[in-house]
Amino acid sequence: MAIELTTLPLPASADPSKFANFGREVKGVDPGNLTPEQFEEVKDALYKHDALLFRNAQLSPEQQYALTKAFDPASESYGHGNHKTGSTKKSILHPDLKTIPRVPQVQLIGNGLVTNYEGLESAQLKHPSHHTFHKTQVSPEDEANGVTRFYRWHIDAALYDLSPPRVTTLYGIKVPKGEHQVVRYDDGTGDELPVPLGTTAFVSGRTMFDILPSELKSFAVRTKVRYAPHPYVWMAPARALPTGLGIENDGLELPLNEVPEWSEDKIMTLPILWKNPVTGELHFQVHPCGAHELLVDPIPAGAKREGALYPDGAHIKDLKEVRSLLYKMQRPAIAPQLVYPHDWEERDLVLFHNRGVLHTVVGAFKPDQVRAFHQCNLAASDIPKGPSEEDVKRWA
Ligand SMILES: [Fe+2]
Repeated sequence: MAIELTTLPLPASADPSKFANFGREVKGVDPGNLTPEQFEEVKDALYKHDALLFRNAQLSPEQQYALTKAFDPASESYGHGNHKTGSTKKSILHPDLKTIPRVPQVQLIGNGLVTNYEGLESAQLKHPSHHTFHKTQVSPEDEANGVTRFYRWHIDAALYDLSPPRVTTLYGIKVPKGEHQVVRYDDGTGDELPVPLGTTAFVSGRTMFDILPSELKSFAVRTKVRYAPHPYVWMAPARALPTGLGIENDGLELPLNEVPEWSEDKIMTLPILWKNPVTGELHFQVHPCGAHELLVDPIPAGAKREGALYPDGAHIKDLKEVRSLLYKMQRPAIAPQLVYPHDWEERDLVLFHNRGVLHTVVGAFKPDQVRAFHQCNLAASDIPKGPSEEDVKRWA
């Protein structure tokens, strides 16, 4: 049986013209038991639409791992590697991930106390909130009135040694229902976004690129990001912007001689734009918190130099400058009308193109609101492809 695709219901806040290709619900198939033909259709749909939803999915951790692996059969280990040992305990991701013992590539994430669950005697889960990560906080009074923040816009990726996963699968098993909350951007724009409790918010990396003015498109197509070594340890003492889209410039990052042992060959240097393997389109894929330096190629011969940023190329090492350029390019794409906040139902399975979208945890739960999700992604067997020579000619 062929798969059936329908559009995702968009919230009133979203601009439908910007979501024509984004997101589809997949009907008529069992995601845990896809035939090879059905899987090929699902894979094609994922790269064309960036996020796929299956409602009422029944999926064991083994099936979720198998489905995730099918996108990259040569991949094997969890996208962030093994967190249980050594120095990575200092990573800011460490407290949020509990491994399912039987299938260590699948993580249990959520909120509250979960007992006798998939081989775990008990797991105390904590929904990450901006309070532990942002420099400024929503006041307790505002929070009681439902005001919240985006936690951290990101790509699922270790950004050191391991290559960014192609796909992430998120499966909602226990989903507490509660009042809607309002994301306040708190960046002077007055932007706000009403969201369902505990939404996962997505923005499209291709829209992020599409809406840039030509001089920033030229800059993006010529530039690579060099990430910090062990970026989540490096950034741990630092605090984020109120939009969750990068780090404040307070100089709090660990000095590089204090991050765990690292080597130059494991540093990730990745293009700003990643080429979609099916559509050929370019997606703006930068994890702003981990970015450390920018490497800019010069304007190619024959291309227009007027108005170009760094026409002769550059190696930008000033962290403030790195962050300010990235923020200028990424902030427009998280405007309220460009965000898809998924309204989770129990047994929703969402597959997202991790090399095509940015996403974030949102909101805050009370300790007694128990939420349990299974998440899986696998460090990829290849490095994301950047712009082709033709892309550079077209956009530089
Ligand atoms: Fe994530």
